[in-house]
Amino acid sequence: MNPWETFRSVVRFRRFETDPVTRRLRTAVTVDDLRRVARRRLPRGVFDYIDGGAEDERSLARNAAAFAELEFRPNVLRDVSAIDGSTTLLGRHISMPLVLAPTGYTRLTHSEGELSVARAAERAGIPYSLSTMSTRSIEEVAAVSAGPKWFQVYTWKDRGLVRELVERSAVAGYEALWLTVDTAVLGRRERDTRRGFSVPPRIGLGTIVDGIVHPAWTVDFLTHEPLTFANVGHLPEPADGGDMGRGAYVMQNFDQRLSWADVEWLQSVWSGPIVLKGIQTVADAVRAVDAGVQGIGLSNHGGRQLDDAPTPIELVEPVAQVVQGRAQIICDGGVRRGSDIVKAIALGATACSIGRPYLYAMGAAGERGVDHLLEFYRDGLARTMALTGRTTIPEIDRDLVRWR
Ligand SMILES: Cc1cc2nc3c(=O)[nH]c(=O)nc-3n(C[C@H](O)[C@H](O)[C@H](O)COP(=O)(O)O)c2cc1C
Repeated sequence: MNPWETFRSVVRFRRFETDPVTRRLRTAVTVDDLRRVARRRLPRGVFDYIDGGAEDERSLARNAAAFAELEFRPNVLRDVSAIDGSTTLLGRHISMPLVLAPTGYTRLTHSEGELSVARAAERAGIPYSLSTMSTRSIEEVAAVSAGPKWFQVYTWKDRGLVRELVERSAVAGYEALWLTVDTAVLGRRERDTRRGFSVPPRIGLGTIVDGIVHPAWTVDFLTHEPLTFANVGHLPEPADGGDMGRGAYVMQNFDQRLSWADVEWLQSVWSGPIVLKGIQTVADAVRAVDAGVQGIGLSNHGGRQLDDAPTPIELVEPVAQVVQGRAQIICDGGVRRGSDIVKAIALGATACSIGRPYLYAMGAAGERGVDHLLEFYRDGLARTMALTGRTTIPEIDRDLVRWR
């Protein structure tokens, strides 16, 4: 026997990939991998701002961990040669039951920011949500994406401003609103406090050192236009200076008197569907349906607001039982695989939404990272459906999962 022949029969060298982004993405096969790459490439303050949660981060950890408490009861010997993961959400046909949730300051991850994420969502055939606190404006995003778009509303004391944003969204063709209801005050994000993190990053010695050791991000940041709160750029400049001062003004002006009457007010200024984002009990879900909203976003803001808040996936079934189809349910937080989407649907959700995963993808590889991520979810959804004997979304029934 010739040892060299034996050796050659098993050795396969991969062709060296010259494109660094492809190289990076080739090894990023899960959300966690993308997170690791983003962590390496982004300054620590930026990464922690995205990755972190409130206080002891228990809501954050449980959101994802709870999916592991569900197991499948797959059916075999069904013809699964053709899988269709498409569904209808708020009257719109979408290619899979996934929505990109709103996130503020997306340009912190990459200079293209919201434009990249919206384009990737359009290519994937799923809705993109633009945050009020976005770093690209309602109109800029509409100009680059003809896909389904939702706008996320924060309710400030200045209702005139809220109304103006809602009207601009309607003119620009946005199809639905999220009204975020879990931010009467801001959660305590202790990683940010510890690092003294601010938006935009302020230059101190720590920031300079952080920038030197993350040169790709720093060059991208310094060679593009400054971050602005694109939707409120026309407000008068506050005394403490600059556009981000304007953002701080807006943040400090969240209306803590926000109540169910304001849901009615929003319905009077917007004729499309409204999803309440941040419903955390069955009782409030009932109230939301009685108020006539079309969607219930079960969410604890990705664990960034109240710590030890209810876990969205655990709420899906009890809420679905009382809502009885009168509103559609979106499960938001901790969705890290296509199989998680299948679990949420089995319990009664219409769709899931994700925030951090696409920010990690942006930090890891920009727009191509988001394409890669959405393909990962699509692939996982289809594979799980095939392995569990379900060929369409309506076939994903309650029998498919059980709590361990
Ligand atoms: C960096 C960051 C910024 C966010 N900004 C907003 C926002 O402006 N408005 C909002 O309603 N939710 C915001 N969220 C919450 C997301 O919409 C979503 O609820 C959450 O990220 C879901 O959890 P996941 O990150 O585990 O997917 C933000 C989340 C992150 C991580």
